[in-house]
Amino acid sequence: MNQESKKPAKLQAVKGMNDFLPEEGGLLQALEEHLHDWLAAYGYRNIRTPVLEQTALFRRGIGEVTDIVEKEMFSFTDRLNGDELTMRPEFTAGIVRATVEHSLLYNGPQRVFSMGPVFRHERPQRGRYRQFHQIDVEALGFAGPDVDAELIVMLKRLWDDLKLTDVRLELNTLGSPAERLAHRAALIKYFEAHADQLDEDAKRRLHSNPLRILDTKNPAMQALVNDAPRLAEHLGSESKQHFEDLQDYLRDAGIAYTINPRLVRGLDYYNLTVFEWITDQLGAQGTICGGGRYDGLIELFGGKSEPAVGFAIGVERLLDLVKQTGALDGAGSCDVYVVHQAGEAKKAARRAFTLAEQLRSTGLDVVLHCGGGSFKSQMKKADASGAEFALIIGDDELAAGEVTLKPLRGDAAQVRLPMAEAAARIIDNLSEELES
Ligand code: HAM
Repeated sequence: MNQESKKPAKLQAVKGMNDFLPEEGGLLQALEEHLHDWLAAYGYRNIRTPVLEQTALFRRGIGEVTDIVEKEMFSFTDRLNGDELTMRPEFTAGIVRATVEHSLLYNGPQRVFSMGPVFRHERPQRGRYRQFHQIDVEALGFAGPDVDAELIVMLKRLWDDLKLTDVRLELNTLGSPAERLAHRAALIKYFEAHADQLDEDAKRRLHSNPLRILDTKNPAMQALVNDAPRLAEHLGSESKQHFEDLQDYLRDAGIAYTINPRLVRGLDYYNLTVFEWITDQLGAQGTICGGGRYDGLIELFGGKSEPAVGFAIGVERLLDLVKQTGALDGAGSCDVYVVHQAGEAKKAARRAFTLAEQLRSTGLDVVLHCGGGSFKSQMKKADASGAEFALIIGDDELAAGEVTLKPLRGDAAQVRLPMAEAAARIIDNLSEELES
């Protein structure tokens, strides 16, 4: 056996679960910081619930006859106590469980958000993963269309901030449970009358979840589905009014939308408003955000009847778009890269070390070159770091108690200046750049 074959095999990540390497991690961090500011502007506060929940929670919340519960959950039996557990496939059910468990609405409505990984056993492709991340936003205890509109307006602001231009809004109303029952009965009657045109999936869903048949991607069923009874024909005056009022708010805010009567969403808890934001920039997985009202869920989890509405954004999809627009380019880079090379190598290194700490005390982000190397290779690293400035300590500088400050972006000339003035000069330059 040769030396080579003794090498242990490399281990790989689980299929459909991605690593974010530092290059992407910086952008992700910048995005998260932006999102925190955006959420704070609308009064949303952070809530964090466990990744693992009882499987029964999702079965009851999302619905037994949904793709998520039927096919996509990472569920297992706890070896030690036999509990049936599931890695959250979304946030809403867990947040509502926590709301009920801790009587969160006792003192009135709450605006909350959460960010983190969620898990669905789907077939991986661009924009579709088995571990992905969501930014989940929930307005709990609010009944009116004003808060539905606020959620949509706030999303539009986010797209604008991130310079996303190609994102469109689709909107629908699912009415009340009673209205949906009447519509459901009409749908079953209609599809039964056309049973010969149904595919296997539709036949299976005919009596369990006929609404999902409307969501079919099968081209052969499009004509049948287009002529199916519409929920709009079964809506009562309250549901109609809610939808009208929401649209008034959106018109006032100048938000364009299309009403898509076939938008039913893949989770069973929705009523009244549902919406999705869709882009053509991401290929097949173009939905970057989905949400809606779920007025029955809190009561379904044993709480007092309280209305609620929310949405979740797919972080990987949003990140993909942000890479395309470049809106957060350069975010997360350091301000200064300290380069040192002199005959008295140790002295230069110690001076650089002290100076880097002094610069950090003024609030600057500083990378100190470590590990030696030629001046040329250090300058290459300085450039690759994304820093605005290289701060150089060479023989001359060391002797004079000075540094050379070299702007790395743009074509301003380098300057020599006393070491003690370096921080102030860098801060001045950075703030001038911000203003221009
Ligand atoms: P959802 O539509 O299932 O809604 O997921 C929200 C978003 O997560 C999607 O629009 C998409 O961007 C992203 N997403 C979904 N599946 C994947 C995947 N396999 N890989 C990558 N991204 C994906 C919900 O989860 C609801 N809980 C939203 C909500 C909150 N409704 C009310 N409150």
